[in-house]
Amino acid sequence: MLSRFVRVLRDDLEAARRRDPAARSNLEVALGYPGVHAVWAYRVFHRMWREPGLRLPARLLSQATRAATGIEIHPGAQIGHRLFIDHGMGVVIGETSVVGDDVVLFHGATLGGKAMRKGKRHPTLGDGVVVGAGAKILGPVWIGDGAQIGANAVVLKDVPPGAVAVGVPAEVRIRPVPSLPELEVDDPAIYI
Ligand SMILES: CC(C)(COP(=O)(O)OP(=O)(O)OC[C@H]1O[C@@H](n2cnc3c(N)ncnc32)[C@H](O)[C@@H]1OP(=O)(O)O)[C@@H](O)C(=O)NCCC(=O)NCCS
Repeated sequence: MLSRFVRVLRDDLEAARRRDPAARSNLEVALGYPGVHAVWAYRVFHRMWREPGLRLPARLLSQATRAATGIEIHPGAQIGHRLFIDHGMGVVIGETSVVGDDVVLFHGATLGGKAMRKGKRHPTLGDGVVVGAGAKILGPVWIGDGAQIGANAVVLKDVPPGAVAVGVPAEVRIRPVPSLPELEVDDPAIYI
């Protein structure tokens, strides 16, 4: 159990090193990356949140982490493996957000609600999604695997897997699937 938890923390560290060309060593990332500190703290207070008696301390720890890192993650949010929050300041992840594996969020990214009612009101991000600096994804929308959200976009509708969404309100651009290089096929007749 403990070793599994340690492995998850180590994966978070390696994700930061893989995604940030400026990261030089695990020690530098472990000591100097607020995005990594916020995700590690989340791993602790999300566990606390699952115990009904620990919800208030979980909330307070989440707020203390926000004060220290500038990143606010609600303890109820569901976050997959290897989330990397680059730069961090101003990131908000709301209570009913779901974040897949290998997601990258830049500073100022918001996974927020549009309406003030209870229930599912925050986005769901698939695996490998990248959310650019300052982008706001609002409401219970779905962002498909591998989609990219442009810096400062405001996303109010679902984004299909692999697509790019840019602008305010965000416009979805489907990226062309790279075509296979033309195969050079000899005329079989020359071998006859
Ligand atoms: C959205 C993004 C992922 C697209 O990258 P890409 O696939 O290389 O696409 P391109 O740069 O070819 O742009 C495709 C189109 O979207 C437009 N576009 C790209 N990013 C945009 C943005 N943030 N806002 C508005 N339009 C944008 C381009 O002008 C281009 O438009 P056109 O087809 O009319 O010429 C990228 O531009 C982006 O915003 N990444 C976020 C990076 C970030 O936040 N970095 C912070 C580092 S500190």
